Amino acid sequence: MKKLGVLTSGGDAPGMNTAIRAIVIAADHYGVDVMGIRCGFQGLIDRKIHPLTSQEVENIADKGGTILKTSRSTEFLKETGRKKALEVLRDFDINSLVVIGGDGSLKGAEKLHDLGINVIGIPGTIDNDLAYTDYSIGFDTTLNTVLECIGKIKDTDSSHDKTTIVEVMGRYCGDLALYSALAGGGEIISTPEKPLDFHTICSRLRSRINRSKNDNLVIVTERMYDLQELQQYIEGQLDMHVRTTVLGFVQRGGNPSAFDRVLASKMGVYAVDLLMGGYSGAAVGIKENKIIHEKLGNLNDVKADKQEKYSLLEKLIN
Ligand code: F6P
Repeated sequence: MKKLGVLTSGGDAPGMNTAIRAIVIAADHYGVDVMGIRCGFQGLIDRKIHPLTSQEVENIADKGGTILKTSRSTEFLKETGRKKALEVLRDFDINSLVVIGGDGSLKGAEKLHDLGINVIGIPGTIDNDLAYTDYSIGFDTTLNTVLECIGKIKDTDSSHDKTTIVEVMGRYCGDLALYSALAGGGEIISTPEKPLDFHTICSRLRSRINRSKNDNLVIVTERMYDLQELQQYIEGQLDMHVRTTVLGFVQRGGNPSAFDRVLASKMGVYAVDLLMGGYSGAAVGIKENKIIHEKLGNLNDVKADKQEKYSLLEKLIN
């Protein structure tokens, strides 16, 4: 390996810094220089590249966000953008790259692999929407943030006997909704994998009210409903006060949890080891508590793989 580039791309996720630290220290162990590429694929095209030393990453393992910054590059989606990126990598003598990001970022990584760069991807996304890995970096921290928030909402719901619809992130994946409902006692959940229509949500609420359960938490994944419409529908059908809370970007920030720090450290080192072993075109993951890698071309469709988990776990909630 000549020089190793590292970038973070897409939405930031707590634990990205921990992964960067692990990559730099592991590369240093092998005597390989690391170049930090700022602002994701766009920064690569724009030549925002500088050396990244072990000293620079010493105290970042516990910090939220990403010191390398990130972006969602539209230019890189085009062939012309990717060709520019390739030229820049050649100019900087970077022949190996670690890309930390979600679904779209790993697709970008695959494109660079196809152009002859040695690339390894690391899943960094709060959404946990990559089927090939049980967990992505950032998911656990965000889950804990969601739990803290819904715990507070439940306090006020119980004081007022009210129902709150809480919208969590996840893009098109219901893991944040499902796991937070399981761990935090959400009464009704609706996810892209198992969506509920307005009528079903109402009849479940009615059945709870009939059992004198007057404070209710309805957890839904973003992008599924117009929350105001849902709120008005429930209030029109049932004699109850309904409030809505969109947790929003509070879910993306914060210091990574211990789980995410350990996961990110393991994945960072594993990614460097793969590249040192001459391997390219794969994404690191974790399956049944073992760090694994999967070809970038094989990262399956999330819905297909996660259906079974959803039917098992959902029995505990709705
Ligand atoms: O992928 C992470 C995520 O936070 C999703 O949960 C959310 O849908 C999206 O990013 C928001 O994207 P943006 O930061 O571009 O608004």
